[in-house]
Amino acid sequence: MFAHVLGENAELRPLEPWQAEEFARHVDRVRDDLLPWIPFARMVVDVDSARAFLQSYADRQAADGGRIYGIWVDGALVGGVLFRVFDAAIGVCEVGVWLGTEARGRGLVTKAVRHMIDWAMNVRGMARVEWRCDPENANSRAAAKRIGFTHEATLRGSWVIEGERRDEEIWVLLKGE
Ligand SMILES: CC(C)(COP(=O)(O)OP(=O)(O)OC[C@H]1O[C@@H](n2cnc3c(N)ncnc32)[C@H](O)[C@@H]1OP(=O)(O)O)[C@@H](O)C(=O)NCCC(=O)NCCS
Repeated sequence: MFAHVLGENAELRPLEPWQAEEFARHVDRVRDDLLPWIPFARMVVDVDSARAFLQSYADRQAADGGRIYGIWVDGALVGGVLFRVFDAAIGVCEVGVWLGTEARGRGLVTKAVRHMIDWAMNVRGMARVEWRCDPENANSRAAAKRIGFTHEATLRGSWVIEGERRDEEIWVLLKGE
């Protein structure tokens, strides 16, 4: 119903619990591309878990504490962006992103995240936007850099994925940068 155009045949739109079946099918298609980097690739395994995941974001959105959007190309869900953290009182939020491999290399995430940052900073008064990624995630680091984030810190051994304790980089964009 509400869409932001990202390019020819590409749109950013809200991703909501009623789209759980489409989201579950999408995660099934892209799971292998996401497994090393994205925790929900392991959590979303069927329609019920897809609905629970989207409902958790709907609840966060209702409390102004997070949001999730999908990216559609030619009517097919190919990826998305989210505010994993959204704290308007403190002025800090964190963005997360994903795309199936077939949708990469077109700047879709760059354009979507720039739109999110514009809204977060200029409409919602955010002072600091964070992007967190694994130091070995070259695609994610490149996207953060391209969008204008600066590497600020590396948290050593701060998260676990695939049963392995990993480092996490924090990339930051401050208002005015
Ligand atoms: C991180 C991820 C979303 C990056 O995807 P991406 O397509 O490279 O990102 P962008 O949308 O910013 O596109 C940039 C690419 O499009 C190209 N491009 C084309 N038109 C462009 C435009 N108008 N603007 C910007 N880039 C454009 C860029 O040159 C770049 O390609 P290159 O890497 O071959 O130089 C993707 O690799 C991914 O989903 N990885 C798995 C999940 C993941 O790691 N998520 C992050 C967890 S922290």
